[in-house]
Amino acid sequence: MESYLKAQFILSAPLPPEANNYLSDVMERANQRFFGEGGKLGKITELKVDNNNISITIDCKGKGQPHYILFRLRKFMRTEIGKKFRVGIREIKFEEYIITLPSEVPSKEIKIPFVKKIEYKSQNACIYLDPKINLDFVEKGAIERIVGLFKTKLEMQKYGAKKEHHKIVYTSEKKDISFREDPTKIMVKLGWIRRTSYRNQWIWGPEITYLANIIKKIWLDVVYKPLEFYEMLFPKYVPFDVWKKSGHLKGLYQGSGEFYFVSPPKTRDPAFWEDLCDYYVITKEIDHNLLLSKLAPPQGGLSYAQCPPFWQFVEGKTIDIKSLPFKVYDWNGPTYRYESGGAHGLERVDELHRIETLFIGTKDQVLELGQAIRDKIKYIYETVFEIEFREVIVIPWWIEQEGRHEADLAKDIGTFDYEAYIPYKGKREDNKSWEEIQNLSIIGTKYPKAFTVKISTGEELWSGCAGGSFERAITTFIAQHGVNIDDWPEMFLKYFKDFPQSLKFC
Ligand code: SER
Ligand code: ZN
Repeated sequence: MESYLKAQFILSAPLPPEANNYLSDVMERANQRFFGEGGKLGKITELKVDNNNISITIDCKGKGQPHYILFRLRKFMRTEIGKKFRVGIREIKFEEYIITLPSEVPSKEIKIPFVKKIEYKSQNACIYLDPKINLDFVEKGAIERIVGLFKTKLEMQKYGAKKEHHKIVYTSEKKDISFREDPTKIMVKLGWIRRTSYRNQWIWGPEITYLANIIKKIWLDVVYKPLEFYEMLFPKYVPFDVWKKSGHLKGLYQGSGEFYFVSPPKTRDPAFWEDLCDYYVITKEIDHNLLLSKLAPPQGGLSYAQCPPFWQFVEGKTIDIKSLPFKVYDWNGPTYRYESGGAHGLERVDELHRIETLFIGTKDQVLELGQAIRDKIKYIYETVFEIEFREVIVIPWWIEQEGRHEADLAKDIGTFDYEAYIPYKGKREDNKSWEEIQNLSIIGTKYPKAFTVKISTGEELWSGCAGGSFERAITTFIAQHGVNIDDWPEMFLKYFKDFPQSLKFC
């Protein structure tokens, strides 16, 4: 990598003509100090009076970063020119900043904020930064991140042509399934669910709610009571601060991370809202533009991955080792994703009801719990649900949701997905006939580090989580077993007494 920076120090007053001699001496001393003998990592190639200011050019090679040299140079010269000429350095102005690094020509144009243009020549990319970039951002590492983002985008274009990371590690016994219908259609016909006027949202009648409660009882009996998990209520409004730390803000709508943002009102003053209100009373319509003008920018969004807001409970704390492992679950309230289109059934919805299982502890505790939950999940599907499913190693959810796709994971870290066979969708050989119904992850130290959570003994804190939706569990169950209760598996029926009587329509 090579970088070239042309910049100016804006001075508080002009320098006298003899300053140029002084500046060539400074250049020599600074080069010696910053780059050493031979200047392998680069050189300040110009330092001279330019009207009332000082003009500077710096060339760097490899890891050398000209903006850091520039900041160091400012510090180096500040006192000297102050004392010598009674002149101060007011500000730094970038004029040109070009970073050259090896690159193929991408198949699709790469666009990056604060970059004016990117040229590709002789197996290199020349990134021309916008010289107006805020220096506060530069001091906080923006240029390194621009280069990183360029490399990631190039990688992603290559990755697109590769196969998705999907390795089957276990397949349950093949079952003789004769049922071939779409569960959503059947449930609609039976009056168990009905679409609302909002995209991909359903209202659940008493029968399907009863089934969801059976699933809760099964999880309590099989997983939570034996492994001693406690119930918690995780917040369902997630401030940006949480998504900054979890990494979610890095992946806004990049193939995942389809958030619902929430805007608060600018004020709750009745006078401020009166015109919108009156408009509605007269027209019976909402004036959307007027409404938008009354909203403040979002401060966060609706819960997406369910477990990230939990971390505010332990953020900045040191946990007594005696209280670990800590094992909790949350099934209070839905999570939200802005899904594509509106043509899907209950298995793909914007408002999703899920069970989130979360555990934290030492590495050994988390690995042991991960294995125990893995066994229990298989037991639920195999013995209680009696469904055909498989266990698959996939790109972990937190990596995908950050808009990344690489799977270079440390040992013991990763995500298992549990996929169920959906007969009405087609043959088993076709991956499209399998649907993810549950996942289980060992996440390692990512969340404890991001939210600064420690263990009293100084050992590393690890975490793991598992998530699955009632929507997917119920549709899969019905897709394989149908709605005739006599055909349902024995263990499941132990939890089933009778459906509640819902409304009858004429
Ligand atoms: N938090 C995990 C996910 O969003 C498990 O629910 O997939
Ligand atoms: Zn989770």
